[in-house]
Amino acid sequence: MKDKLEIIKRESIKELEGVETLQQLEEIRIKYLGKKGELTQVLRGMGALSAEERPVVGQLANEIRDYINTRIDETAAALKRRDLESRLKKENIDVTMPSKRKEIGKSHPLTKVLEEVTEVFIGMGFSILDGPEIEKTYYNFDALNHSKYHPARDMQDTFYITEDILLRTQTSPMQVRTMEKQKPPIRVLVPGRVYRADEIDATHSPMFHQIEGLVVDKGITMANLKGTLDVFAKKLYGESTKTRFRPHHFPFTEPSAEMDCTCAACKGAGCRVCKYEGWIEILGAGMVHPNVLRNCGVDPDIYSGFAFGMGLDRIVTLKYEIDDLRLLFENDKRFLSQF
Ligand code: DAH
Repeated sequence: MKDKLEIIKRESIKELEGVETLQQLEEIRIKYLGKKGELTQVLRGMGALSAEERPVVGQLANEIRDYINTRIDETAAALKRRDLESRLKKENIDVTMPSKRKEIGKSHPLTKVLEEVTEVFIGMGFSILDGPEIEKTYYNFDALNHSKYHPARDMQDTFYITEDILLRTQTSPMQVRTMEKQKPPIRVLVPGRVYRADEIDATHSPMFHQIEGLVVDKGITMANLKGTLDVFAKKLYGESTKTRFRPHHFPFTEPSAEMDCTCAACKGAGCRVCKYEGWIEILGAGMVHPNVLRNCGVDPDIYSGFAFGMGLDRIVTLKYEIDDLRLLFENDKRFLSQF
């Protein structure tokens, strides 16, 4: 039995020396010290020994067990240390490396110009409102005095959701919503997206932006309309800008007009931007039609008002001389970062 113990001692020492992993270490522990381990077997068989032999063999067996336990603990600690060190080496961060550049965004040109426009009107006492893009046919057409047969109602031109609900084709329905909610005096500016069934090309898009204006009070005249919009044009394009009004037709205003400004690029001399006309059309406007006032519960014998609507996208493309509308909606950062 003593011989057996000596063999166990020698072999366990040798095996422990070659250990590479914690897994191997555990296998060695089971092999010698486990329930069915070699040393455990020896200790179990000690009952068969004589009274003199038992303490001697017992002591030797205990020594070997302690030795193996100690070596296992030491080896495990060393292996763990080695793993940690190699992990620290692998996961080492070089704090001197340059970091990833953070890109700082910029306002979209549409946002920039919208802010310029709203600022001018806020200066003249207007409030800024928002309206629904999904709109009732009633607000988009009926209440705005469009006849049942107005061509803009055509399914070919307008995105209907149902017969009564559509994507608004203009921001003008907010004239009606505002007058329904608010008593005069009213001075509001309503920017927003509008939708029409147009094919996309350099000058058309099924989604674009308008800015609507509405003023209603006692004694509002065409002179107020012209004065307000002339001030606006001068603030947006410079003090030397001139405006002119041409008669036009809109169902919800009477009389109606379109306003042209002298071209900001050539100051009216004629150039590529204004197609050598010297003037650029920038908005539609007019005195709010009495029918519209009545539809909103406003008495046309007491109140009058003017309204105007402009295309924001066109103002932006003119200002920055952008020759393709699509550039505004593609959100290519190489394009947008130029403004
Ligand atoms: N809603 C018109 C359009 O989309 C633009 C417009 C013209 C608005 C005259 C107005 C206005 O408020 O008075 O063509």
